[in-house]
Amino acid sequence: MVHVGEAPGKLILCGEHAVVAGHPAIAVALPRMTRVTLRARLGATAVASGIDDPRLLPALCTVVPDTGWGITIESELPVGCGLGSSAALAIATLRAWNAHEVATGGERADFDALHVRAFAIERAFHGNPSGVDHAVSALGGAVRYTRAGGAPRITPLRLHEPLALVVVNTGPPSHTTAELVERVRQRGAEAELAAIGVLVAEVAERLEAAHVDVAHVGALLDRNHALLQGIGVSTPALDAACVTLRRAGAAGAKLAGAGGGGVAFGLCTRDTAATVAAEAAAQGLDVFGVTIHPTAW
Ligand code: PMV
Repeated sequence: MVHVGEAPGKLILCGEHAVVAGHPAIAVALPRMTRVTLRARLGATAVASGIDDPRLLPALCTVVPDTGWGITIESELPVGCGLGSSAALAIATLRAWNAHEVATGGERADFDALHVRAFAIERAFHGNPSGVDHAVSALGGAVRYTRAGGAPRITPLRLHEPLALVVVNTGPPSHTTAELVERVRQRGAEAELAAIGVLVAEVAERLEAAHVDVAHVGALLDRNHALLQGIGVSTPALDAACVTLRRAGAAGAKLAGAGGGGVAFGLCTRDTAATVAAEAAAQGLDVFGVTIHPTAW
């Protein structure tokens, strides 16, 4: 028996770290997928992935039994760079396992079941994640996510226009997400995190407008990046990537994800995105352009 599950990666547009403290974040699903294939086999469950991480098999075995399965992982996402590779892996694994459950008379898992069960895999990699990564991976599109008082609140963000983003990967972070979250907690950055929450609310409102004022949203993203610098999670490479993206014509730019390395992105108009990507690539950056299309919810 063979079962396949797929799920997209994600980009946090704004609100990372603040979301851990109960403020809102906005994240979008990326058209970059992870596919998990399960094949029945004799003996202990084994994984073929090309990913060298001792947490991988125990994490997958919170969903798949530890005997009887071969798990193959194929992914278009770089691992550990803030593009939600572990969340996509969690949701893809759950979808593959749920395909097995359905084939053997079980029920199809809905979004809530996927979201709750994905926490077990995400915890294996990230300690105590907010859940925003696997919420957007399971739901797709663009979402507003808050976890105030422990319970997640997930609402679709109703885009009316496509968003043109240029993403730069500065390479694997020097610290894990859990370490960076802990560093921010120890720093006691409540005022900065609350200020990020206010920015996120304004970005959400502006992105849901019939015509997005890209210049204004870009300026809000620049302020979000400055606040993330202030709480110590940016790096010289992320800051330089943001400067390059802005100079190349992006309306605004910020790091995305936990920081300490990983990705930054620039918000562009649809007319400028290709030029911005080409100029960033000419500066030697590892770059790709992506368009986030409105979803019919
Ligand atoms: O870099 P990532 O994809 O692990 O994103 C982390 C986002 C944080 O807000 C820093 C942590 C979280 O659990 O939301």
